[in-house]
Amino acid sequence: MSLLVRNARLAGGAGRDGGLCDIEIDGDRFGRIVPAGEGTGRQLLDAAGSLVSPPFVEPHVHLDTTLTAGEPRWNASGSLWEGIAVWSERKRTLTREDVISRASEVLRWYAANGVLHVRSHVDVTDPGLVALDAMLEVRERVRDVIGLQLVAFPQEGVCSFDDGAELLEEAARRGVDAIGAIPHFEDTREDGVRSLEIAFDIAQRHGLLLDAHCDEIDDEQSRFVEVLATHARRGGLRDRATASHTTAMGSYNGAYSYKLQRILARSGVNLVCNPLANLCLQGRFDGHPKRRGLTQVKEMLGAGVNVAFGHDDVMDPWFPLGTASPLQVALVGVAAAQLTGAAEIDEAFAMVTGRAARVLHLNEGYGIEPGRPASLVVLPATSRFDAIRRQTRPSHVVSRGRLIAETPVAATRLSWPGREPEDIDFIRERDRE
Ligand code: FE2
Repeated sequence: MSLLVRNARLAGGAGRDGGLCDIEIDGDRFGRIVPAGEGTGRQLLDAAGSLVSPPFVEPHVHLDTTLTAGEPRWNASGSLWEGIAVWSERKRTLTREDVISRASEVLRWYAANGVLHVRSHVDVTDPGLVALDAMLEVRERVRDVIGLQLVAFPQEGVCSFDDGAELLEEAARRGVDAIGAIPHFEDTREDGVRSLEIAFDIAQRHGLLLDAHCDEIDDEQSRFVEVLATHARRGGLRDRATASHTTAMGSYNGAYSYKLQRILARSGVNLVCNPLANLCLQGRFDGHPKRRGLTQVKEMLGAGVNVAFGHDDVMDPWFPLGTASPLQVALVGVAAAQLTGAAEIDEAFAMVTGRAARVLHLNEGYGIEPGRPASLVVLPATSRFDAIRRQTRPSHVVSRGRLIAETPVAATRLSWPGREPEDIDFIRERDRE
């Protein structure tokens, strides 16, 4: 017998976030989607007019470093470079159990927040590949609930680290989903270009995706994203390739930015902006005026480039805060990238859902449509805009036909002079139907 989600307001449906519908679930797949009241099957949940969205997607996080903030010491300068140095010290004490424990804890936070697809970078500049083997095991352990993609990430370089290229190749053999790079960290520009050539070669020989940390620096001379995009176009990887961070773009001049828009749009590559981490990491060497140090989100969206928002770090040497909440990332992204038009705020929601799904190349494996995996989140919100503004936790999370998380909807009881005690939930009165 099929299951039923009643009275769902589909995000992005007809009208501003849609009329109500019933969603049928057959096993772990969506069945029919019909007007409210017409669905059949045993009730799984009644959304009662709440917003229903495909699950959130995390396009960029480092689960192997997560929950280590302050170990063995705090990142005192707050810079990316000191973060890498602190991690290099912490890495010496890594054990398989340590990585599995911390990564699994944060994946439970992600699931509770309705994030059911996660792309995690894993540092492979470690001759023992301790974190990689641990994360490969985590991927297996969580696969019934969360689709976890692993990127072989050469944190300390490919050409500038002993056996860097061999470690990337070995990671491909052990079963990662994507190959990474970090060209701006290599010792020379030539090494940076060579590192991308190596990464593309390994990705293509093994049939993998590619996701490079690219130009994560405030140096306007760091221009590896043009190299990445051109390799992606000429070699055919196209939208299977992603450039993450690309914060140097925040310092590029107008003429070069215009040229770059065309290069990126033609290539089909994705960009991932990580506003929480990069607002903190970048600009650390500036006086005032101090640069924002983010990629060109609005401009690249306008040029037709797919851009998604990622968390990057949850309590580690690069960013000490975070609860693995995609709506927190979207809210900060709206402010940081000045996406304040109504349609732009809806776009920010897409940047942690559908646009992020494109980064992971989920294709038919994502979305509320008949035949696709029956995964969704119910948000006690009137619209995508409202979900971001009020930071609503999902009331229900369904993964492949199973209800895995429930959160009571909170309201604050307020006693106010001249008024009866009332529940305050921060919805504007005229937005209530
Ligand atoms: Fe990153």
